[in-house]
Amino acid sequence: MHVEPSPLKTHAAIRDARRRGLRIGCVPTMGALHPGHVSLVQRARAECDFVVATIFVNPTQFGPNEDFSKYPRTLEADLEMCRAAGADLVFTPQISEMYAADAETIVRVTKLSTVLEGAHRPGHFDGVTTVVTKLFQITEPDLAYFGQKDFQQQLIIRRMVLDLNIPVTVVTCPIIRESDGLAMSSRNRYLSAADRAVAAEIFQALQLAEQLARESLAAPAEIAERMRAHLEATGTMQVQYATVADPQTLAPLETWQRGTSGVALIAAKVGTTRLIDNLLLEF
Ligand code: PAF
Repeated sequence: MHVEPSPLKTHAAIRDARRRGLRIGCVPTMGALHPGHVSLVQRARAECDFVVATIFVNPTQFGPNEDFSKYPRTLEADLEMCRAAGADLVFTPQISEMYAADAETIVRVTKLSTVLEGAHRPGHFDGVTTVVTKLFQITEPDLAYFGQKDFQQQLIIRRMVLDLNIPVTVVTCPIIRESDGLAMSSRNRYLSAADRAVAAEIFQALQLAEQLARESLAAPAEIAERMRAHLEATGTMQVQYATVADPQTLAPLETWQRGTSGVALIAAKVGTTRLIDNLLLEF
């Protein structure tokens, strides 16, 4: 496995692989890897001939009061996980190599970026779409792998790829969960033992939504209320949103009938840690 900080050298190595007729898979990450990321690299390994993982804590997707400076940086362990999962190349750029000091260009998905996460984290998705575009330019993948945990992110990246005619297939991979259902996340390591126990209630709320939808026991707006009530009953969780939305537009689901698909989405602060999770629903 080759580790390469230079965008130009990464591009050249991938061009070379492409010239040899290899199918390129890319797994963009911010490091602090966990089994969720490993599953993405393994999926890329199974479906592609040349797998590039990228590790870059992207400053432009963090708000001024967010955790950019304390975001976990665990490069040695990350590289070991990438190696074990079968990556061929890991791209580890410096900020100065990714952003010119006088950079002026951003990529914005105008509507989808403003709701839910976008409403609570203004500018976040501009940072994501801009850096992912740059990573796609550098790595020119045939396929790119993202986790369903960041449901809105994968939807926005799909929109961007369509709108900008980027020749990449976006693959969304299932959420990997701890044994009590907590979605794996690099931010889980911030949780105290008490907060960690409370955090498991997020999956309980999503499962409640799934049951209510499956058995047609409640309409989407009521399901959203029931999820919120479940989370607030912990007494400590600060719910930012709990909603049942259309999985394509993220608009709150209003009309539904048997066979309607939806997605239950939650963002909540547990202590000082902000967690997100979601579950696809079938009415
Ligand atoms: O999901 C992430 O880790 C990041 O948002 C991504 C896609 C690597 C862009 O920095």
